[in-house]
Amino acid sequence: MRLWQAGLGVGMVWAVWGWMAAVGPAQSAEPVNYDESKVRPYTLPDPLVCRDGTKVTDPKLWWEKRRPEILQLFEEHMYGKAPGRPKQMKFEVRSVEPKALDGLATRKEIRVYFSADPKGPKMDILLYLPNDASRPTPVFLGLNFHGNHTIHPDPGISITDSWVRNDPRTGVKDNRASEQSRGNMSSRWPVEKILKRGYGLATIYYGDLDPDFDDGFQNGVHPLFYRPGQTRPEPNQWGAIGAWAWGLSRAMDYFETDPDIDAKRVAVMGHSRLGKTALWAGAQDQRFALVISNNSGCGGAALSRRNFGETVERINNVFPHWFCENFKKYAGREDELPIDQHMLIALIAPRPVYVASAQEDLWADPRGEFLAAKGADPVYRLLGTDGLAVQEMPEVDKPVLSRIGYHIRRGKHDVTDYDWEQYLTFADKHLRGK
Ligand code: GCU
Repeated sequence: MRLWQAGLGVGMVWAVWGWMAAVGPAQSAEPVNYDESKVRPYTLPDPLVCRDGTKVTDPKLWWEKRRPEILQLFEEHMYGKAPGRPKQMKFEVRSVEPKALDGLATRKEIRVYFSADPKGPKMDILLYLPNDASRPTPVFLGLNFHGNHTIHPDPGISITDSWVRNDPRTGVKDNRASEQSRGNMSSRWPVEKILKRGYGLATIYYGDLDPDFDDGFQNGVHPLFYRPGQTRPEPNQWGAIGAWAWGLSRAMDYFETDPDIDAKRVAVMGHSRLGKTALWAGAQDQRFALVISNNSGCGGAALSRRNFGETVERINNVFPHWFCENFKKYAGREDELPIDQHMLIALIAPRPVYVASAQEDLWADPRGEFLAAKGADPVYRLLGTDGLAVQEMPEVDKPVLSRIGYHIRRGKHDVTDYDWEQYLTFADKHLRGK
């Protein structure tokens, strides 16, 4: 159970506040269902049948007709359409430390300016590359929740100057991060382990792209793309998840310029809301060679049509800024969606994708995550891979490492060493043929 569901902690205060602000205290949603026998029957749209009824029987039809159609449906109805790469974007390598982490790694910090104005929106990439591996190096890329300086106690990491949520536990006051939070998310980022396996690690604070609260899209990157007179995105334009995913693609733009990075072997990874983001980034941007969804749940890997755990209604009420405005129409009407999340995973085909669940993370609907992964299997097979090579949900702690990978591990909603062990082995297998 999450903190705020258990009725504990600071998280609860803002989650409840968000919910009250969004729906008002008088409106109540249906109680959260955690009972498998109460899941209503549903029919998933077939990823291999086009809107006009054409059956997709060969890869050509998939690439030329069905895949573009599905991508456009996700843009229009769920995540919103994002702009491309800004013309004026500039990269600035701000520091290089060849002997970071006791000589294990080279640490670089790269600032990405999204416009010609150095005071305009920007993001900071923190990059570690293993010194004991040949270059160019394959890299894991993931957004982080609290600032780059929270992923490792390394004193050389710059403390973010972006807006951060106030939290007495991490010493964030007046929405400014401080030394107190250095390294405090390191349990989710086994940096040394990743480096010793021969991979680089790149991360960006997601708040650089869009601070995670509903301000009508006045801060973050959205305003940079408003046409004259526009004050918020159109109903089919990007929300916050769209902006975070866009940032991942901009990091990829940088990787393509850095000779130390093997840009053809970049794995994009994310947890929870950032797992939703990793999937959407990997679906849109085929430069990502491998995609990992860690406990991404509703709006990520979990099927929307299953009424189990978080629902489309709840996610839109509590987080009205995550998806595009059009998605709100589907609250309680998931059956009307022309898509479901198995089709999001199918957009990644035939590239390797890993969906990870946690046994106690019922809010994210582990079975719904598995079924979406399985629902993408016909597309992976059409494109000549082994898809998800099991019929039933595997037992706890029994990972499946086929082209669609899946595990459910014991424990809670989190990113653990166990999860990373599987991702590294999965990457060894599918990116390096080991
Ligand atoms: C909430 C939200 C989830 C999300 C999670 C997270 O629990 O309801 O959809 O995945 O936060 O990002 O931690």
